[in-house]
Amino acid sequence: MLFLIALPFVFGAVAKGWATDAKVNCNNPPDAQYIVNMTPSKNAGIDAQIVAQTGPDGCTNFVVNINGNPPAQVAPYLYHIHELPVPSDGNCTATLGHLDPYGRGETPPCDASQPQTCQVGDLSGKHGSIASLPGFSAHYTDKYVSLVSGNPSFLGNRSIVIHYNNLTRIACANFELVRQSSPSKSASPASCPPPSTVNSTSTSTPPYIIIPVVTPTGSAGASTSTSTVSGGAGALAVAMVAAVL
Ligand SMILES: *[C@@H]1O[C@H](CO)[C@@H](O)[C@H](O)[C@H]1NC(C)=O
Ligand SMILES: *[C@@H]1O[C@H](CO)[C@@H](O)[C@H](O)[C@H]1NC(C)=O
Ligand SMILES: *[C@@H]1O[C@H](CO)[C@@H](O)[C@H](O)[C@H]1NC(C)=O
Ligand SMILES: *[C@@H]1O[C@H](CO)[C@@H](O)[C@H](O)[C@H]1NC(C)=O
Repeated sequence: MLFLIALPFVFGAVAKGWATDAKVNCNNPPDAQYIVNMTPSKNAGIDAQIVAQTGPDGCTNFVVNINGNPPAQVAPYLYHIHELPVPSDGNCTATLGHLDPYGRGETPPCDASQPQTCQVGDLSGKHGSIASLPGFSAHYTDKYVSLVSGNPSFLGNRSIVIHYNNLTRIACANFELVRQSSPSKSASPASCPPPSTVNSTSTSTPPYIIIPVVTPTGSAGASTSTSTVSGGAGALAVAMVAAVL
């Protein structure tokens, strides 16, 4: 009996055959940032800025501010990342459906307590709809979208569409690149590989790990092993600083 009841749910969950939970994407480049800017004149009176940026945990952090007065109040409003960018004629329908790389489909509605089972682009489903306008702001982290080009959940080449509650599209605009990563911090992901080479060399010669212990006595001289002069100069400089102090 239980088995018979459970069966339809099992088939429902795999209706598309290939639907899977969304992958967690928290490996964004440091300080990557994209912005969607909706200007009221092109967006039925809606004035919105939606920033997607790398958070401290490497996941995507959203800052959402939506204002303006749409022609009708059909709240709550919904907003999603759509698959394609808005073409130059501003046609929101041309953005196709929601970003859904894992094939979940529209139904059943997103369960916000299990965001990995929702469409990746369903921001209002996962993080809350827009109760009223003007005056909506929200700040949240989404682990499933990506700021890494090439990732199936990458949002940088897509758009955001705001809908009435009846799903009619009222505003849309594209994500635009502010920066892919900060120049200063982008060196740190690049310097991640070296530890693995250090790891592989150190496994072959573990005793040499002891060497760093020697360096504190002459860090200036350590770079040029034959130069006792630089070590002496360093020692002299230290002595002079000590004298000044
Ligand atoms: C908007 O795009 C949709 C989908 O591509 C298309 O069917 C429709 O004709 C377009 N509307 C206008 C006004 O161009
Ligand atoms: C956007 O980027 C993703 C990942 O790089 C890619 O799979 C997709 O085809 C791109 N879409 C468009 C419209 O360029
Ligand atoms: C949704 O609501 C708006 C505003 O009342 C209306 O213009 C539009 O036709 C409605 N769309 C549908 C699909 O009912
Ligand atoms: C580094 O060494 C550890 C311990 O030997 C090993 O488990 C790990 O796989 C190594 N990592 C790499 C990248 O070689």
